[in-house]
This record gives sequence, structure tokens and C-alpha cells, in this order.
Amino acid sequence: MTELTHPLATVPQDQLVARAEADPHRPRFHFVSPAGWLNDPNGVSQWDGTYHLFYQYNPEGAFHHRILWGHATSTDLVNWTDQPVALEPSDGPDADGCWSGVVVNDAGTPTLVYSGRHGERELPCVAVGSPDLLSWTKAPENPVIPAPPAGVDITAYRDHCVWREGSVWRQLVGSGIRGRGGTAFLYESLDLRNWEYVGPLFIGDASAGNPAAADWQGTMWECVDLFRAGSGALGDQAQREQARRDQAPGGGSPGPDVVVFSAWDNGDTCHPLYWTGRYAGDSYTPWALHRLDYGGRYFYAPQSFADESGRRIMFGWLQEGRSDAAMVEAGWSGVMSMPRIATLDTEGELAFAPVPEVGSLRRDRVRIGPRSLGPREVLAGVSGNQLDLELDVELQPGSVFRLGLLGSGAGSGVANTGGEGTPAGPAEETVIEIGCDVGGGGFSQSYLLLDRTHSSLDPSVDAEEKSGPILLPGGKLRLRVLVDRSALEIFANGKPLTGRVYPTLGGEAVSLSAAGTVRLLQLDAWRMEGIFGGPRPLFP
Ligand code: FRU
Repeated sequence: MTELTHPLATVPQDQLVARAEADPHRPRFHFVSPAGWLNDPNGVSQWDGTYHLFYQYNPEGAFHHRILWGHATSTDLVNWTDQPVALEPSDGPDADGCWSGVVVNDAGTPTLVYSGRHGERELPCVAVGSPDLLSWTKAPENPVIPAPPAGVDITAYRDHCVWREGSVWRQLVGSGIRGRGGTAFLYESLDLRNWEYVGPLFIGDASAGNPAAADWQGTMWECVDLFRAGSGALGDQAQREQARRDQAPGGGSPGPDVVVFSAWDNGDTCHPLYWTGRYAGDSYTPWALHRLDYGGRYFYAPQSFADESGRRIMFGWLQEGRSDAAMVEAGWSGVMSMPRIATLDTEGELAFAPVPEVGSLRRDRVRIGPRSLGPREVLAGVSGNQLDLELDVELQPGSVFRLGLLGSGAGSGVANTGGEGTPAGPAEETVIEIGCDVGGGGFSQSYLLLDRTHSSLDPSVDAEEKSGPILLPGGKLRLRVLVDRSALEIFANGKPLTGRVYPTLGGEAVSLSAAGTVRLLQLDAWRMEGIFGGPRPLFP
């Protein structure tokens, strides 16, 4: 197929990899595409022990256009081997892009269900894989669903969640009904090729809450993902039996069914949210809506799977926080999150932690504590821009704990508070703040906050504050932070906050400070090894 060069393809393709590799903001232990553009994780799965990560990929440059499916494999979820591009547009329903989708096991045959893009419209398509999942053949029946449900005025229609229930396949396609809200359309099939429309699983309410709010539902739901929390794959026979046993009198308490989606509105990728509720028959009864990651659009379009050991593992796309022009110049865009395990916490909400395999990249542990914290101190033995930090902290009501990262400049005192009499902070520093609530006054809810006001001297990068509530039972905080140059993943008592930062000075200082009574029980810090040996071919 002849492809006109995109106006944003200003960096010659043969220079993209070198450009990308030279960028100091490019992460070293997170998965990134060889160069060019990466967005959603797709087809995340495990087959005969091997993990597969497909992703939305544009090797033409760091912009979103004519998307292919990149592919990488791993035996440990951490070290990835590039594999040949799995899917690319061809004449027909995916002529303008192979958009997001999933992999399912069709009686032993790996099968992709994805959104083919043609013109301005996306329709469900299928491709069948070789046993090693390395080569894919598109189904002659594509598109397998010829049009969105008739008579419904939709905002968009794409992305898939597919599972087996007894002898039938079920599928959700993300969508939205104009004037009402986001939704997921439910379909049923015996062969993954012929689909019968069942109806909307349920319909959100776009008029609820403020469109600027961090939990606004959006007018369309991208990348819908349905699973039973606290267990493996949805709809699996043994699991459904177990779930039934759990619900029997005297049985255990069954986890909620979770519907994860990425709230979208007229081209804006807002943030990932999830419902907890109960899926039964052809519908879903939502109980509550939750924020999936306090970083909002910096952890977008997540997709999860149950691995062979039954862990619910989720990947998300870390969008960039710099301008389109800066991405194009850099030669690459988009980071895949480290894989996270989702479990249920005591409140019946999802809790997240990086998979333990991430620990294999740790080097040179430094341990600090126990000690009381006060004015800002730069740690002598801990610094770097590729770090894994694990902290146990105890906060008294009303106190605030701050962890400074990627700091540079000679500043001392409390970083960047600008308060009267406080010495100037460092020239650049990214600050993670945790506040402990006070009963009856002050801030009423404990919180996690990412302060990027002083992360970068570059005024063009996003510096918006990100935050959300956390629980600090007994004032106890377990904080985990992965720093990988521009990529930051923070977990505070299981609540994730993902962000991007673009310091200009190359600072690597780590600092601690506190207001009120805060005790550091222990801090463990490791330097993290990179996962790629050197430049990678654009087309492996
Ligand atoms: C989410 C998304 C999906 C779509 C894909 C296109 O980021 O917009 O809805 O399938 O990306 O690359």
C-alpha cells in the first residue's frame, strides 16, 4: 500500500532510533518502543510460560498515525525481546490503522480481536496467530461486526474485552451514547466471527459531576476491561463454580466484578476509572465508581490479564507531558507501565503493586532509618534517575511527609515552599507529598500528591498537580516509588499515581522532609538496571 508521508514525519526514519536513544528523558527499565510512537498495551497475555505484550505502534515517527501492533515477549515480565510487527494496516477495514484489542485462546488457537480503522470509523476485526504468536493472518470475514448497533447515536465505537462463558464467547465494545454517557456494548458469539448484539452492559451518566473533575465519566469509554477482582479470568468454569460456592451461605465473600475504562471526550483522553459492581446475565449493576490511578491521563488505556499463576496483571500507557513538537523532535513517545498486580483492599477497592519480578533489576541496596524527619535533607548515600525506593513511614495526625526526587542545585531547607524565612529550594525537584488527616480540623482526608511545580525549568512541559485520597491506618505509610528518568510510578498504601517529569538539569538528588511529627522507619533504595542492551531495530 502506498502511504503518503505524514507532515509530522520530519525526522528521517533511519535517524529515529539514534534520536530516541540520545534523549536523556527516555526511560531505561520501562518498556518503550524501539523509537517512534507507542500508545496502548494490547493483547497482554501468557502462553506456555511466555508473556506477550503487543502495543499500538507508529514506527514512522513520534506521532499517532496509521497504527501497527508492535510486539515483545518476556519470560519474567521485566526483560523484553522485540518480535516482528504483529499486525499492520492493509486494504480493507483496517486500511488506516490496527487499533486496540485483545488476544484470546480459541481452543488452542491464538486469536486477536482488534479495532480496524478505516476513514474515521473503527470496526471489530479478527486475526489468527501461529502457535508462537509471531505471525498473524487476518480473518476473511473482517469486519466481524459490520456496524455499531443500529438506531443508537454513538460518540465512538472501539476496543474490545473478550471472554469465554461456557460454550459462548462474549465481547464488550467500548462506546458512548450521545447525550447520555459512556457505555460498553455486549455481544455474543459461538465462533468469534459471527456476533449477535445483546445490548449495552450498562450506560454511564456524562452529566454526573463536573467534566473537569478527576472522576468524570466522559462521553465515551475506551479500552473497557471486565474482570472479577481477586481472582483469575472471568467466566472460567472452575472460577464460576468457585464464585458460586463463595456466594453460598457460609461461603467466603466474593470480589466485585470490575469494569475498567478510560474516560474519553471528543478527542480528550481524560483518565482511567473503574466501576465495582456485579455482572450477572446480560447486565452489570454498578455499586461505585473509582479512580484507577491518581496520575489521570499518565496511566491511560490499561489492559489486564490473569497470568498462569492466577495473578491479575495490568499494563497502562504513560502518555507524555511535553508538546507534540517536542515528542517529534525526541524521536519517540510513550512508555509502557511496569506490570502491576491488582488485588482487592480492605475497602473493596483495587490495590496495586509492581510485580515482584521488578526486583530482579535492583542493584546496590542502601538502607536508611529508623529516624525522625524534620527540615529538608538531601540524602548522602542515595541518588539517581533510575531508582526503586521502598519506604515505611509513620505520620502523626496533621503531619506531612515529603520525598524529593531528581533534585539539582544547591538548595537547602524545605523545598520550594517559598514560605517566609525558608531558604530557596533546589533549582529543580519533583516532590511526592503525603499528608495525614487530622480528626476534626485541618485536612480531613489523608492524601498522596505529586508536586511538579519545580520539576522542570522548561515552561512548556506539564506541571499540573496530581493527587488523591489514601488511607493511613495508624498513620502507617508504605510508599513505593519507581523513578525511570521521565517516568514515575508511585504506590502509596496500594493507591497508584503515575506521572511524567522532564528535568533539564540532570539532577539526581533524593531528599526527605517533614512538617509535624514524621518518623522514617526504613528506606531501601536501589539503582535499577536498564533492560535494553543498545539500539533496537524499528522493525524487529
Ligand atoms: C486509547 C485509544 C483506543 C484506540 C487506540 C488507537 O488510547 O484511543 O481507544 O483503539 O488508542 O491507537
